[in-house]
Amino acid sequence: MSDVLTIKPVEVALADFGPTMIVTLDNLLPQPKGRESKLFRAMRYSALANSKFLRPYLLRTSALMFGVPEAAYLRAGAAVEMVHTYSLIHDDLPAMDDDGIRRGRPSCHIAFDEATAILAGDALLTLSFEILAGGDTHKDPQVRNDLVLALATRAGGAGMVGGQLIDLTSENASVDVELIARLATMKTGALMAFSTAAGAILGEASPSLVNKLETFGFDLGLAFQITDDLLDVEGDEYDLGKKVGKDADAGKATFISALGADGARREARRVVDRAISHLETFGALADELRVAAEFVLSRKS
Ligand code: IPE
Ligand code: IPE
Ligand code: MG
Ligand code: MG
Ligand code: MG
Repeated sequence: MSDVLTIKPVEVALADFGPTMIVTLDNLLPQPKGRESKLFRAMRYSALANSKFLRPYLLRTSALMFGVPEAAYLRAGAAVEMVHTYSLIHDDLPAMDDDGIRRGRPSCHIAFDEATAILAGDALLTLSFEILAGGDTHKDPQVRNDLVLALATRAGGAGMVGGQLIDLTSENASVDVELIARLATMKTGALMAFSTAAGAILGEASPSLVNKLETFGFDLGLAFQITDDLLDVEGDEYDLGKKVGKDADAGKATFISALGADGARREARRVVDRAISHLETFGALADELRVAAEFVLSRKS
């Protein structure tokens, strides 16, 4: 029997992993108190919601390939999840996608107010770097520095934030599929690339192995965004915890607007195959990541 059959389906693995991430985040997020209590309540409201925790799961899975201790990968996983949650809080604001539902509940700016949502995002972003830089993340300050550098590069203007800008400026514009792939690789691939690379960074793997896992993460994230665009057309609001049909309403440049649904599905398959090709060096050690890549194609939420 192939080893790959012993790996849990990703839906099951994510459901098992979720409670551990909730406890980790709960411990790392500030408790609401004092005059700034509303800020902390808003951070906790969005971060302790119904996330799939795919980014921390990918980080954990790459970390386990290098024997990284649980406490280390959970802290780094919480850091990337906080950056992701901040990106969603800001993504939902009226100035951006103007979405009222996220993770099955009112978006942060609806449950609180716009100013609080902006500040909750800001505070989640900065807290993520505080966590990575903290001594409990890794005993070697060089490793902590490498993690901070990697997250800053992937989350910033050359990564997630830059991708968001291209996404917004491509609304109702004629945009070719190469630019759509670039914006998706930046806005969504970059944080996945950090996640898959971070396990190897924590495990003090060689730069070449870190790079292979990072390249895998970029392609995985690109494929994930293609299926996000597909689910916006074909998905179920309850399963997704967010409204559907919003991309066409906003005139977004998506893989569906460029290629149609069948074309987007073929492109997602092609990109997942390319992602998996970056894992060759790792042999069976990377089987769980291969299964995660297939999940990105078949996911319903
Ligand atoms: C949604 O991300 C935003 C995109 C990058 C497409 P997820 O689908 O991972 O959302 P959560 O974290 O599970 O809520
Ligand atoms: C968001 O992409 C990616 C981010 C970096 C937040 P979308 O705007 O397509 O995500 P959803 O569909 O609102 O979750
Ligand atoms: Mg958006
Ligand atoms: Mg959006
Ligand atoms: Mg979307």
